[in-house]
Amino acid sequence: MSELKNDRFLRALLKQPVDATPVWMMRQAGRYLPEYRASRAKAGDFMSLCRNAEFACEVTMQPLDRYPSLDAAILFSDILTIPDAMGLGLYFETGEGPKFKKTVRTAKDVEALPVPDAQKDLGYVMNAVSTIRKELNGRVPLIGFSGSPWTLATYMVEGGSSKDFRLAKALAFNDPVTMHALLDKLTQSVISYLNAQIKAGAQAVQIFDTWGGALSHNAYREFSLNYMQKIVNGLIRENEGRQVPVILFTKNGGQWLESMADTGATALGLDWTTDIAAARARVGDKVALQGNMDPTMLYASPKRIREEVATILQGYGNGTGHIFNLGHGITPEVDPANAGAFIESVHELSAQYHQDS
Ligand code: CP3
Repeated sequence: MSELKNDRFLRALLKQPVDATPVWMMRQAGRYLPEYRASRAKAGDFMSLCRNAEFACEVTMQPLDRYPSLDAAILFSDILTIPDAMGLGLYFETGEGPKFKKTVRTAKDVEALPVPDAQKDLGYVMNAVSTIRKELNGRVPLIGFSGSPWTLATYMVEGGSSKDFRLAKALAFNDPVTMHALLDKLTQSVISYLNAQIKAGAQAVQIFDTWGGALSHNAYREFSLNYMQKIVNGLIRENEGRQVPVILFTKNGGQWLESMADTGATALGLDWTTDIAAARARVGDKVALQGNMDPTMLYASPKRIREEVATILQGYGNGTGHIFNLGHGITPEVDPANAGAFIESVHELSAQYHQDS
């Protein structure tokens, strides 16, 4: 077991005192970085980056090398590796996002789906995790991740991205038994996938429920939260003598924070539509909070970015339990210098909120 040189991220998740608010960015390894675009060109395409542990490690390290102040690394992979391992045939068409060769729309389709073996079918991800851990050598903790069952199901039913989730929602409403059977298989798959990542060296895990917020109040509980609860219950929560924090992120889920906190997750991710001060008042005694600057703020000037960071830090207020992040992934058009200004501002401006620690 390697000693962690910078454990601010894990400490803040567990609400232990920190000297400054930790910061990382969703999608921090990605197309806004010229060095990422160069690695992808070398690998050939996105999935070749993910499938090759050396490449996945190289791109995971790129944001850390460019911004030495980042407090966490996130595994370079994708949430759609699970449906790919179930045999759906994931591919990416430039400018069009992810697509599947096969879709899942009937009870028979669901029955035919295997629950992937995390070691056999997704071993390339576990290789990436252990390779990255070695390369990090205790510099910062490594975050593993997965999609939520509902979010994965939307891609599998639709065959790719969707604006309105017409097919996935029609299946849930017309044939809930089939949708639940699909969500059950995905839940089993996610639990074994995340536990394998933890055993391979992931020191915290995040569940991306990118599309839970597209559901109605009741449907969110039935089709998304219910399954994330099962995942939280099924995860390894201690490894290498440390707690393994679990972060739940439902985009547009601000109205459900109390129920999300009741799952037993360690932390909740907030998008930018939620006021972080109000969120802390609602659930801050139960969970840590991660977020929540509007990612498009990175198109503004460094001065304006710094003001926004100050506002969010002030909103959260004194003490630990806050992990600074964007409210969703950084976008390809962002100037890398502005991302740097964001990260530096968080550390510079947050020390004053941790003086009693
Ligand atoms: O945060 C990180 O740096 C880790 C890497 C990461 C990627 N995808 C890399 C990636 C993570 C955590 C994800 C999660 C993911 N993938 C989600 C959930 C998070 C979210 O953003 O809500 C979703 C919905 C996906 C599915 C997916 N994969 C989409 C919608 C896309 C974008 C397609 C496009 O062309 O914009 C991808 C591809 C993808 N995943 C890229 C990256 C860096 C871009 C691929 C490229 O290089 O062209």
